[in-house]
Amino acid sequence: MKVCIIGASGKLGRYMVRHALDRGYEVVGVCREKSAGKLNAFKGRITIVPGATNDRGVIQQAVEGCDGVLTVLVPWGVKNYSSGTAQAVLDFARPGARLIFSCGWHITRDGHDRYSRTLKVQEKLAEWIGRLTRLIDIHDQVEACRRIFASDALWTVVRGSDLEEGESQGLPVWSRHVGDPILKSNRTRRVDFALFMVEALQNDALIHEAPAIVGCRTPSALAHADAET
Ligand SMILES: NC(=O)c1ccc[n+]([C@@H]2O[C@H](COP(=O)([O-])OP(=O)(O)OC[C@H]3O[C@@H](n4cnc5c(N)ncnc54)[C@H](OP(=O)(O)O)[C@@H]3O)[C@@H](O)[C@H]2O)c1
Repeated sequence: MKVCIIGASGKLGRYMVRHALDRGYEVVGVCREKSAGKLNAFKGRITIVPGATNDRGVIQQAVEGCDGVLTVLVPWGVKNYSSGTAQAVLDFARPGARLIFSCGWHITRDGHDRYSRTLKVQEKLAEWIGRLTRLIDIHDQVEACRRIFASDALWTVVRGSDLEEGESQGLPVWSRHVGDPILKSNRTRRVDFALFMVEALQNDALIHEAPAIVGCRTPSALAHADAET
């Protein structure tokens, strides 16, 4: 299995590199040239293609021959960074490759997610601050996901809850809609978000799904498991 990790030098990306290497996968990582040093721990074990993750030439080169592509979707700046990344992956990954994208709960696939007042306020604030500072463009991440959802490629969009550091607790659990009781705790270890993405490569049940995930040891996940038994 050969996988490409786009955004490999970030926190989520580095966890994904580790999980992929643990499984014996061949790894190609894309990261900004100035961030390549963050991948020194993997020197000699992965191939790095340096460059902006919305550079179509860089993505084309990196995904060549890959069976899976793991993409950290981030809406940096105001120049369509997220949608540019997503489009390049959709255009250049080989047909039949598994494409796994990361985003947050604010992305909705079918409009049936139910958001708490806190989440709605957080999203509005991020949107407002992003627009003011021109640092992030939440709308472009929405556009990126709209294009992914419309595609026939074998995609999965993993919607992460609030993230925290710490040891792995195991594979997160998921549900189709934010607002479902199992997700109430709204917390996932970042290492486990990465684990879910890497495991999704081999899970065909997740093709054309946008799972909203939560840590498997969180109170809401445990309450759900108790109710099931
Ligand atoms: N509360 C949360 O934080 C939260 C909740 C749910 C889901 N998520 C999702 O989790 C993912 C974020 O992952 P993360 O933890 O890996 O975040 P991260 O460490 O901040 O890295 C994200 C990526 O953005 C790149 N980046 C940073 N600044 C940039 C810039 N100015 N221009 C271009 N690229 C830049 C980083 O590359 P460098 O290494 O080059 O800096 C890295 O590849 C996203 O998909 C997000 O939607 C986050």
